[in-house]
Amino acid sequence: MLWAWTVPGWSTKDELRALYRATAGAAGPGDVAEVGSWKGRSTIVLARALRDAGIADARVWAIDHHVGSDEDEHREILAREGSTFDAFRANVRASGVGDRIEPLVLSSVEGARELERRGVTLRMAFIDGAHDVDSVRADIRAFLPLVRTGGSIVLHDCEERDATFPGVWQAYREVLADRVDVVEHVDALLVARLREG
Ligand SMILES: C[S@@+](CC[C@H](N)C(=O)[O-])C[C@H]1O[C@@H](n2cnc3c(N)ncnc32)[C@H](O)[C@@H]1O
Repeated sequence: MLWAWTVPGWSTKDELRALYRATAGAAGPGDVAEVGSWKGRSTIVLARALRDAGIADARVWAIDHHVGSDEDEHREILAREGSTFDAFRANVRASGVGDRIEPLVLSSVEGARELERRGVTLRMAFIDGAHDVDSVRADIRAFLPLVRTGGSIVLHDCEERDATFPGVWQAYREVLADRVDVVEHVDALLVARLREG
């Protein structure tokens, strides 16, 4: 699983382990959607967890427009390297679980519409796209209807105190917190389960 650690990204090892646990334990049926794949670090963890848990019929929809977020760190890297899609594809190919990963090079909200159009339902949505409050609100609102009751919603960069991205916590409190039970919160990765209703 920690092979994914060699792919550039921001999640800590403990967050990747929690993401792996969340995916392997997400109540099915249904697929997994990821908003924000960058170069594939988390995508590979999601697909490995499905494979290792013997969940044969689920795939990972990796949704990213691959042009970064409006954050300084991304701007610098993208100015140097251009789109992240080629690196994403190469890492996924090398991971051994590429057959379970379906990239959608779209904006997050367009990605949710595309999944709906295809009749996809989700056992889990992992949201790690843009981190400003409006974008996170929009991402939660777009993907929540696709997640089955009892399924999982996982947010990265979701911290109440000393947050690098306070908008993620704000959006979580505003549009998600009263609809879920928190399963675990490891570093800045919040794993929650969707309640009925
Ligand atoms: C923090 S990175 C994701 C990191 C990745 N989950 C990992 O673990 O390596 C955020 C990603 O979200 C993507 N992104 C930002 N806003 C987006 C949007 N509105 N639609 C689609 N992708 C978006 C960016 O292109 C970037 O690749």
